[in-house]
Amino acid sequence: MGERGRNPPLDLGGVTVWQGWLDTPAQAALVAELRALARAAPFFRPVTPRGQPMSVRMTAAGRYGWVSDRRGYRYERRHPSGAEWPPIPSAVLAIWHEVTGLSRTPDCCLVNFYGEGARMGLHQDRDEADFSWPVVSVSLGDDGLFRVGGTVRGGPTRSLWLRSGDVAVLGGPARLAFHGVDRSRFRSGPRLPEGGRINLTLRVVD
Ligand code: SIN
Ligand code: MN
Repeated sequence: MGERGRNPPLDLGGVTVWQGWLDTPAQAALVAELRALARAAPFFRPVTPRGQPMSVRMTAAGRYGWVSDRRGYRYERRHPSGAEWPPIPSAVLAIWHEVTGLSRTPDCCLVNFYGEGARMGLHQDRDEADFSWPVVSVSLGDDGLFRVGGTVRGGPTRSLWLRSGDVAVLGGPARLAFHGVDRSRFRSGPRLPEGGRINLTLRVVD
């Protein structure tokens, strides 16, 4: 169990944040699994439906991957290469089950990579069929400045630096909270020798 769950979670506008959920060996093991995953399903740079390249690179694991291109935001059964997505690593599924208490497994593990200067604008996760399932987010590598608002665009927001090993849950009234990453501190994290931040988001899709 290591240091998992030792500290009570923070409430960031309804989003539950477990700081230091993964201890150092668990983070290192997860990074090694994700390297293997990225060999099977290489990172790609999505473009928005308006054709703007995103600053974040993405890949995924599970029954579905989330993709964006000129045709819009959606879930797809296959990587853009045509290959099926690799399975969600068991260590990632274990985090989902422990933190949510659910027996249902997630369908998608989206893997976001934030290199130097990458960010993600405020958005809602709303491409899924049933918002009663939570979204679980796992941060690795560099610190990322996470911003959370309410369920209406333009309202007040709160921010918190997510660090390697932190786990956040968007559930209940915060399931549709606007959220994003304003910036990361490049090379602040210990886990990725080449620098960068990885965020995993686990979701039930259909
Ligand atoms: C996302 O909302 O897809 C990513 C959130 C994060 O990187 O912390
Ligand atoms: Mn999101």
